[in-house]
Amino acid sequence: MTTTGSHAVQDSSIHPVVAEKLAALGPGHPRLIELFNAVSAALKQVVREHHVTHEEYCQMVEFMFGVAGEGEMGLICDLILEAAVVESDYAASAGTAFNAEGPYYIAGSPRLDVPCRMPMRPDEGGTPLLFTGGVSDTQGRPLAGARIELWHSTHDGLYSNIDPEVPEWLLRGQFVADEQGRFEVRTIRPEPYEISRHGPVGRMLHAMGRHRFRPAHLHLKVSHPGFRQLTTQIYFDADPYLDSDAANCVHRSLVIRLDGPSQAEAGSAYGFDAPFLTGRYDLVLQPAA
Ligand code: DHB
Ligand code: FE
Repeated sequence: MTTTGSHAVQDSSIHPVVAEKLAALGPGHPRLIELFNAVSAALKQVVREHHVTHEEYCQMVEFMFGVAGEGEMGLICDLILEAAVVESDYAASAGTAFNAEGPYYIAGSPRLDVPCRMPMRPDEGGTPLLFTGGVSDTQGRPLAGARIELWHSTHDGLYSNIDPEVPEWLLRGQFVADEQGRFEVRTIRPEPYEISRHGPVGRMLHAMGRHRFRPAHLHLKVSHPGFRQLTTQIYFDADPYLDSDAANCVHRSLVIRLDGPSQAEAGSAYGFDAPFLTGRYDLVLQPAA
């Protein structure tokens, strides 16, 4: 297998972090040994069972260099594996179902004051949406002051701070639940999200005859002292991709109905200037371990 120098250069920024973390584990780390050996055994089993040729192996390594070079490592890991990890790690949890974080979370989004309005351009495309809900514990007690981070794509499927065409922090924000644990935030309804058709991951899906779409979704992280931080996604019913999510993440308990459109005046506190949809989800946090 030959590689070009440029790949090494593109990856160099993460090397110090990786080196530091591995050094912190110390030599002979048991969990690392266990997982390395298990993954290695599973992959070797695939090689034997499917008679993987050396040429196919080389193509795979080349593909992975392409994925890294295009900044799609997070995307491919999440696409293949994150839903299964979340399902396994949070299987027995009470409260709202966890769902994949996806590749595009960024900490430190703008703090929004009431009435909460996600950072948007004056002419932001897409149907206006008022997303509301509550945050409570598993006994139904409201969690006043719970922090909610919300991020999602534009109506044409772009994430800010990822896609350079979109202003920084657009459609990313965080806010806190009120005394009754309630929140309301004005945003737009994202549309089904298409994984880039130009990158290696999108091309691979196409080569398999699969579509590249995820159903429209809102990403949320909800935190409150003494509770396990919840990372999840909310989906909308009637979405054509609920049953064929390219990332295979959809969980039925996270699908909501959108009502409306209501007349703009009904949302006067939020200054809606066009009819808007409303959607509600009540989030339930479990106690920290
Ligand atoms: C994936 C998840 C997302 O939320 C997204 O917007 C794109 C891709 C994924 O799991 O691959
Ligand atoms: Fe997403």
